[in-house]
Amino acid sequence: MKRERVTVHIDDVRRATAGDAHAVAEVIHYSTADSMPWFAGRNTLDEDRWWTSNVLLHKTDVWVATVDGNVVGVVALHDGWLSQLFVRTTAQGFGVGHRLVEVAKRESPRGLQLWVFRRNAVAARFLETVGFSLVREGTSSGRHSVSEAAEPELLYRWVP
Ligand SMILES: CC(C)(COP(=O)(O)OP(=O)(O)OC[C@H]1O[C@@H](n2cnc3c(N)ncnc32)[C@H](O)[C@@H]1OP(=O)(O)O)[C@@H](O)C(=O)NCCC(=O)NCCS
Repeated sequence: MKRERVTVHIDDVRRATAGDAHAVAEVIHYSTADSMPWFAGRNTLDEDRWWTSNVLLHKTDVWVATVDGNVVGVVALHDGWLSQLFVRTTAQGFGVGHRLVEVAKRESPRGLQLWVFRRNAVAARFLETVGFSLVREGTSSGRHSVSEAAEPELLYRWVP
């Protein structure tokens, strides 16, 4: 049976401000806990709040999707890399991820790449749906792999 498509009304996809730091951290923290249990628990919510305020919002171009004024999705861009893409678990499957990727592509005319854990089959399938292609398997040199070097990752790329 064909799955019925339900749409949530996304108010906006806008640039994150300093005032969004805690909401952004919560989306990343809890979405990680639910979707990547093998990776979750490495940082406390307070550590993720600190990292979001002091690193993510300063070093990357962060956009948020909001529903009823609440942040439900986050995408962070840095120099052709999609460094974060997270949707709150209860908001997944309603098109928020598609909207965030549309903005990421619009802001990245030379293309985008990102590393995804090989175990994260949902994300890999999503990326293929939105036009990314698998480049190779390996391990990133990013935040993930510092403590998770043995966890295989997949490099995906979108070329306009
Ligand atoms: C990967 C992730 C970002 C996708 O976000 P999402 O908001 O669930 O994505 P969407 O709702 O846009 O698309 C997911 C599915 O819902 C469907 N969908 C439901 N309603 C939709 C709508 N109104 N518009 C578009 N797609 C819709 C899509 O078709 C898609 O199904 P498909 O893969 O069978 O085509 C999200 O699952 C997530 O945050 N995962 C945890 C974090 C993570 O793994 N990050 C790694 C980044 S790649």
